[in-house]
This record gives sequence, C-alpha cells and structure tokens, in this order.
Amino acid sequence: MKSVLLLTSLLLGLAACKKDQPNVELVQNMMDSPAFEEQDFDPEANDGRSMRVPPEHTVARNNPRYKYAKQPELAKAMPNPFKDKIDLEKGKDKFETYCMVCHGQTGKGDGTVAEYMALKPPSLVSDKIKGWTDGEIYHIIAAGRGLMGSYASQIRHEDRWHIVNYVRELQKKDSGN
Ligand code: HEC
Repeated sequence: MKSVLLLTSLLLGLAACKKDQPNVELVQNMMDSPAFEEQDFDPEANDGRSMRVPPEHTVARNNPRYKYAKQPELAKAMPNPFKDKIDLEKGKDKFETYCMVCHGQTGKGDGTVAEYMALKPPSLVSDKIKGWTDGEIYHIIAAGRGLMGSYASQIRHEDRWHIVNYVRELQKKDSGN
C-alpha cells in the first residue's frame, strides 16, 4: 500500500508545475474542454448554432432592453446620459471593434469591407449626421436600419453611448474632405 502511495505522489510530483514544460496529462481529455468558438457550428443544437439566443422574456443584467426600437421619433429626443461622462478610449475601442470595418477608422464610410458592399456604408461625419441628435445615432446602433443590423445584443447600453460620443469626436476632427 505504502509503495502505491509513494508511486502516486511521485507521479503527481512529476506531473506538477514545471512552467517551461508541457503538462503531463494523467487523465486524458480533462484539459481540453470541448468549448465552442463564436460563430461555430454545433451539431447538437437544434438550429446548428453554437451561440445561443437569450431565452425569451429575459433581460441581461445591466443591459436593459431598448424600448424605442420601433419608435424612432422618441429615440430622437432621448437625452445622452453619458454627455458628461465621456470615455473616448472606450468609445474608440468599441467603434473600432464594431463599426470601423464598414464606416472606416475616421467614420467616412470607407471601411475595409465597404468596397465589397453594393450599398456603401454612409459617412458618419457628414453634415447630415452632424445634424442628428445623439439619440438618433444611438437608435441606429440599437435598432439597426435597412442593411445595417441591430447591435443590441453585441453592444451593451452604456457602450452604445460611448460610441455615440466617439462619433461626435470624429465629427469634430473631420476636416470636411
Ligand atoms: C456591416 C457593415 C456595417 C457595420 C459594421 C456598421 N454599419 Fe452603420 N450602416 C451600414 C449601412 C450599409 C448603412 C445604411 C443602411 C441603410 O440605410 O440601409 C448604415 C447606416 C448607419 C447610420 C445612418 C447613416 C445615415 O446617413 O443615414 C449610422 C448613424 C450608423 N450606420 C452608425 C453605425 C455605428 C455607430 C456602427 C457600430 C456600432 C455601425 N454603424 C456599424 C453598415 C454598417
């Protein structure tokens, strides 16, 4: 019995933390979990998608449901709760993650995928959008429009406002050409 214990602890000892060497897997398949990447195909799921749609009638914590999705006129008058809590770094990070591919780094509508799109993403630094209220820009992010889908499930409430503030910053920087 003693020798079995000794052997086990010796084995475990050998398997333990040598940071510069790969681990010894005593029990196979315990270290690689069958986790899915985003956008993966899941043969077990009814719809084949690894990414789950939130259950009906549920609301993610700290991400209230956008209530004006079908009322753009109410969205227009929505005050910007982050007007005095500007976080350009956050806004830039989110803009460059979610918007830049189409609308371009400076918002001119010249993102990397724009050339492949039949309907070009419009400029966000145009006089038209400069004249929009913050609520109107927020509305497009949360509800989408036409070819641009809603980002409600990817971008949480406060980050949408940080993006709006960042778009305003791009508009200020824009030299108009
Ligand atoms: C897949 C490409 C794509 C992405 C990503 C995208 N958009 Fe758009 N966006 C479009 C297209 C295309 C339109 C025009 C939609 C239409 O009217 O059919 C548009 C329209 C808009 C408009 C209205 C512009 C106008 O002149 O009427 C705003 C504002 C806007 N997008 C902001 C954003 C923001 C902010 C993000 C990031 C959260 C974003 N978009 C992400 C393609 C995109």
